[in-house]
Amino acid sequence: MFKPAERIIHRPDPGAWPDAEAAAVSRLFSPVDVGPLRLATRTWVPAMVPWRATPDGEAGPDVIDWYARFAKGRPGAIVIEATGIRDVPSGPLLRIGDDRFIPGLARLADAVREASGGETKLLIQLIDFLAIKRRPDRATFLSRFLALTDRHRAATGETADAAVRAALIAMPDAQLRGVLDARDWESLAQGFRERVTDMDKPHIAELPAVLPGLFAAAAARAEAAGFDGIELHYAHAYTMASFLSALNERPDGYGGARENRVRLPLEVYRAVRGAVSQKLAVGCRFLAEECIPGGNTAEDAAWFGTEFARAGMDFLSLSRGGRFEDALQPKPGEAAYPYTGPSGYECMPAYISDARGPYGRNLAAARAIRSAVREAGFATPVVTVGGVHGFAQAEAMLAAEEADIVGSARQTLADPDWFLKARMGRGSEVRTCEFSNYCEGLDQKHKQVTCKLWDRQDLAPGMDGLSHDGKRRLTAPAWE
Ligand SMILES: Cc1cc2nc3c(=O)[nH]c(=O)nc-3n(C[C@H](O)[C@H](O)[C@H](O)COP(=O)(O)O)c2cc1C
Ligand code: SF4
Repeated sequence: MFKPAERIIHRPDPGAWPDAEAAAVSRLFSPVDVGPLRLATRTWVPAMVPWRATPDGEAGPDVIDWYARFAKGRPGAIVIEATGIRDVPSGPLLRIGDDRFIPGLARLADAVREASGGETKLLIQLIDFLAIKRRPDRATFLSRFLALTDRHRAATGETADAAVRAALIAMPDAQLRGVLDARDWESLAQGFRERVTDMDKPHIAELPAVLPGLFAAAAARAEAAGFDGIELHYAHAYTMASFLSALNERPDGYGGARENRVRLPLEVYRAVRGAVSQKLAVGCRFLAEECIPGGNTAEDAAWFGTEFARAGMDFLSLSRGGRFEDALQPKPGEAAYPYTGPSGYECMPAYISDARGPYGRNLAAARAIRSAVREAGFATPVVTVGGVHGFAQAEAMLAAEEADIVGSARQTLADPDWFLKARMGRGSEVRTCEFSNYCEGLDQKHKQVTCKLWDRQDLAPGMDGLSHDGKRRLTAPAWE
């Protein structure tokens, strides 16, 4: 994981908690409309992949328990983790690419409704992602995978393939880097990664033709399963964010100028809106800033947000960073991970930080984006996240018009009851997130995600609900 050079320690401090009367008249615990939905409070649990769907991508008991546990804290809304819209194996990532996934997702929706007494609205985050390969072994890559060209022959002075490959293997890295083209060097150093600009590949060239239909079919399944809304995943390192990215130079009218980059995201939105009833809220999550050299700025995001609002989206959820372009080099045999570099740090900053600190890094951009959307005449609610772990902080974000709804991911993982505790005037009982990113480390290794503050608590031999290695509980202990 990337660590800012300054290494300043910023201990979390939730600040003062309200009593029940003050909570009842607060902004945070007041209702808000999200398109056709009325959220009982302005609290929102953003998508978090917990790596606990069944091996076939179904919503089995582990994933249902995980969301039912969040629902007990009665947030205004929960967004179910990034869920794959294609019917392709993706390990224990949740999937919605076929009708056979509907019954499991319907059980999940029922469990959330029951656990929250019907109060929490349930959305699902729909994702498409491109292929990424593990970092190869150097000799294997150069002897088997690299497509040889005249450039390699000229640089080695050899003509026979075997001799060219042997000479490349013998070359020091500094020299090899000059001989391989940038993409081959990346495939060797980081592992091969598809891009939306790989127009020579038919399945990439045809993304604008196929994605609206895939997203729309997935959204219709979500409605059949009983969800209240759809969050289109236009953030971080994945396909749709890469269409929006300032680095997208596709020549087919879907890259280059902002007007072109927003085209597919709008086409996907319209297809989804047309595939579900008016009872469902449809919005997207996108990046307030890409946080990579040459990437989208808050000004770009303000423009995109205004276009999304103009198209009729019911909410705009803002994240930050999390791109592949600056990911740290993975070990051989492992895949690059978009939350390991500086932009990944911006997405999930930890308590060891720079002078700006880890709490509220997205607020200035969120405020600018929200204000641009308002100036264009749209009242679309904006969901903002960023190290939120206290009532006072959340209330200040709402007062400063940095958010209409406050998203809290890791704090809610640390204490799924924290919204309820604050609302009941029992904030002193909140278990405060340490922002150590132990949970994120598990996510990176594709292990079942838990929180270090509770995953070893009250373990008993043979108890239900333990991780695969039997060492951690999978959901937070009950709050009595
Ligand atoms: C374990 C874990 C999994 C995550 N998975 C997703 C995801 O599926 N989709 C997404 O948009 N963001 C994901 N995020 C990012 C969070 O939604 C959130 O934006 C980020 O943690 C910052 O908010 P926080 O400071 O409240 O934690 C994940 C975060 C964590 C810690
Ligand atoms: S493991 Fe728990 S305390 Fe640590 S960052 Fe994650 S949620 Fe917070």
